[in-house]
Order: sequence, then structure tokens, then C-alpha cells
Amino acid sequence: MNNEKVLILNFGSQFSQLIARRVRECNVYCELKPFSTPIEEIRKFGPSAVILSGGPSSVYEKNAPSVDGALFDLQVPVLGICYGAQLLAHNLGGTVVPADSLASREYGYTEVNFDSTSDLFRNVDSHSVVWMSHGDSVKSLPEGFRAVASSEGCPFAAFENAQKRIYALQFHPEVSHTVKGIEIIRSFLYEICGLGKNWSMGNYKDIAIENIRAKVGNKKALLALSGGVDSSVAAALMSQAIGKNLTCVFVDHGLLRKNEGDEVENTFRNYPVNFIRVNAQDLFLNALKGVSEPEKKRKIIGGTFIRVFEQEAKKIGKVDFLVQGTIYPDVIESGMGTNADVIKSHHNVGGLPDHVDFKEIIEPLRLLFKDEVRLLGTELGLPSSLVNRQPFPGPGLAIRIIGDITEEKLAILREADYIFRTEMEGAGVENASQYFAVLTDTRSVGVMGDNRTYDRMIALRSVCTSDFMTATITHVPYPVLEKVSSRIVNEIRGVNRVVYDITAKPPATVEWE
Ligand code: XMP
Repeated sequence: MNNEKVLILNFGSQFSQLIARRVRECNVYCELKPFSTPIEEIRKFGPSAVILSGGPSSVYEKNAPSVDGALFDLQVPVLGICYGAQLLAHNLGGTVVPADSLASREYGYTEVNFDSTSDLFRNVDSHSVVWMSHGDSVKSLPEGFRAVASSEGCPFAAFENAQKRIYALQFHPEVSHTVKGIEIIRSFLYEICGLGKNWSMGNYKDIAIENIRAKVGNKKALLALSGGVDSSVAAALMSQAIGKNLTCVFVDHGLLRKNEGDEVENTFRNYPVNFIRVNAQDLFLNALKGVSEPEKKRKIIGGTFIRVFEQEAKKIGKVDFLVQGTIYPDVIESGMGTNADVIKSHHNVGGLPDHVDFKEIIEPLRLLFKDEVRLLGTELGLPSSLVNRQPFPGPGLAIRIIGDITEEKLAILREADYIFRTEMEGAGVENASQYFAVLTDTRSVGVMGDNRTYDRMIALRSVCTSDFMTATITHVPYPVLEKVSSRIVNEIRGVNRVVYDITAKPPATVEWE
């Protein structure tokens, strides 16, 4: 693969990851880095183009996030989006002002006229709908710039200095509501930046294998296998790269779904790698005894995982590398891709203890989105049943039991979850990317036979998503929900009520903890 790559500087917009996804969908490689990335690091990265994302700040505020002016000396095309556009205007001599009235703010669908003499808009109609989301506006353009799109409330909906190859969009081309958004991104990448369609999973696989070989050499690596999509794809990739120098350790932490431990073992026993199963249920349950706070649970599980691996590594002999199946959304949501708040510390990123007994951690999927990981799995020849499996979080059922964790609660949740999943599969419910049961800490009154009950409540969750960054709820048919509810209360002692979670992400997350 050649060295073409786009750098996206993240100013904290909820859509920043979406920009990255769109660029990669155009078969151009890109990375998302914090806006504060030092200019030396940016030079070393060697971007072919830079995109400045949107963000919640105002450019005229004290300490507003900004970029080093040297960015414009890199002689590469720059595209600013929303806050990024305002930043370009502000930094290059234009003016940005707050909305003088509510009416001059624009949120949502907005009609825009495009100037088709701009290279950005050569492939779009002169009139189209875009997604706006801004309070501040550009009031005057820097010298050398011209307006190339306008809306009723925004005379500078887009502006450019084509000679310097600097472009700015007040609206969001990355969201699907912007009707011609992807065409605009394509024009920027292919025509303005002259980039080719060089990013594909096939060549990513070859490069990843080469890089792993160069890094690991003849040393030994240990992989934390959970049996989920990410760690299985990481295992397949690593095994193609280093074969028997890879040992996969599958830790059964006692927080897995019904039958899952044996299923994982059966799949990977026949794999051309060293496979070890560690039964560590007691260790994990003891460490989690009495703990209810979600972040604490995650940290304890992450820490215990690492210790178990360290012990295994010692038994195996010298192990230099620990391999983890961390993917890009984990990195971003753990606050490492931005300066955004930590939403949840995913155990394979934020939960690592300070001291880890390995030379280095390898995360071969660190830059891939979920659907890219699946593509890579297919490219590596993994079966579709494994590659298209729904995700299961590393901390397992621990983050699906609200409150502290006991064997009794685990047994209840396992059965309820199994019933729900079996019925969903049997009914072939559509738009169900991930579905599971949650054991809430609510007890409620019911009546069974002639007796009053005061028992537990199970919540069912099913979401539709491709990237797990945002999700909508699945419209599970009522008869399916009714059957699941009836089976759960009839077959599981201690449960007398079942509810269905109808919250999208955002504002909720997929998991309850
Ligand atoms: P949330 O709850 O953050 O979940 O909306 C998004 C996706 O990530 C999965 N998830 C995890 N995966 N370790 C993982 O490997 C974790 O700690 C973790 N927490 C959530 C979740 O199941 C969903 O698919």
C-alpha cells in the first residue's frame, strides 16, 4: 500500500468518528487524533490531507481548542467542518460571532445553494439539503477566500481558498442527513487531494501481518481469547503472522453466557495455535464480592485478567508480548482519541493496572471499526458464524447484573439470556445486531398461583447498529416478547417480571453498566 493517509483532528464533535468512517468507506486510510497533537508528531505522521472536525467550543473563547499555525505550512489540503470551519476563518483573519438571535442559529435539515464552480461541489446539484448544527457563525471571510455555498441563515455555509487548498464547511457532510455529503467528501479526497482508493481489508491484512512479524520476530506472544469477534479475529491474524509462537489463553471468568466456555474451547482446540483454558471463576467472583459500582467492577475484572495472564505467561516461559483485541471505538470511548470525558473504561483499555508484566502490548485491531474487524475476519478465512457473532463485552455478565454479583444471580441471568437469545434466533427477528438480558436490582410484587411473590425483574435489550457508536432499538414483535416473558417467569425461579428497554444510544449506552 502506498503511504496516503488523512489526518482528522478531533475537536470533540459527536460526529468525529463518523468522519473517519466515511473517509475509510471511500477506501482512503485515515486516523483520528486529538486536536492537541503536537505539530512534530503530525509531521512524523505525514498526512496527505488534514480534516478539522466539529466540536462544542467557540473559537473566540479564552483557551478555545486550536491548532498550531504550522499546520498550514505542511502544504497539504485542509478541510474544516463546523467548528473546524470556524477555526479556519478565525485563525486566518476572518471573524466568527455568536448567534445574535435564536433565529440565526441553525440546527437540523437546512436547504443550501452550492456554487458548482467549486471543486468540492462539482458533483452535487446546485441546491440540496444539509445537516447544520451551529450557534456561532462566520461573519467575514479571511483574505483570499470566497463563499461557495449559502443558506438562508448562513451566507458562508462553505468557503474556500482553492489556491491554498483550504476548504471549509459549516454543515456536516459526514452525517447521512446531508443528502450529498458523501459526494462532497469524495470530491475532497479524490479530486482536491488527488488520493487513490488504496485502503482495503486485503492489503491491510498483508501489512498488519508484515508489521506483526517485524515486531515480534521469533519471540512469544500471549493472546487473551474471549471467543468474541474481536479476540478471535486478533487470534487468526496473529496465528497467520507468527504461528506456534502464539499461545491463546482463554480465561473462563465465570461471567460467560450459558454453554459459552465449552463452545469457545471446542472452536479453538482445533486451531493451529497453542490453546489453554484457565478456569478462574472463583478468583473473579471473590474479587467482585460485594462490589456494585460499574466502573469498579470493570477495573477489578481488567486487573484480574491481567494477573491471570501473567501467571500463565510465567508457566509458558518467556513471553514478550500480550495481544489484545481492542478496537477503535474502545480507544475513542476511553477518551484516548480525544479529550472527551471517559464514558466507560472498557476493560481492555482503561482498566489495565499500571504495572503489567510483559514487554509490550500488541493491539492489532486498534485502528479498526467493528465492521472492518468483521471484514478482516472474513479476509482471514474465519467462518461467518464466528465473524458475524454479536459482540459480548469482556467483563461479561458482570456488567449485565445491576448491583453486586453472586452465583445465584449469574445462574438466573444465564437462563433468562439463553431463553431470550433462543427465541430471537428462532423467530429470525430483523435489525437485531445485539440482544441480551439484564438482571436489574429491582424487586416487584407479583402473583403466581394463589401466592403473592416479591421477586426479581429481568430487562431485555435489543439494538440495531452497524458500528455500536450509536444504536436504535429493535422493533421486536410483541408475540416474541410475550413468549420470552412467559418462558422466563415460568421457567426461572425468582423472576416474576420482564420489561423491554426502549432507549436508543445515545442517550443510553448499549450495556446497562
Ligand atoms: P456501550 O455499552 O458502550 O457498548 O454502548 C458498545 C458495544 O461495546 C460492547 N462493550 C464492551 N466490549 N469490553 C468489550 O470488549 C467492554 O468493557 C465493553 N463494554 C461494552 C457492548 O457489548 C456493545 O457491543
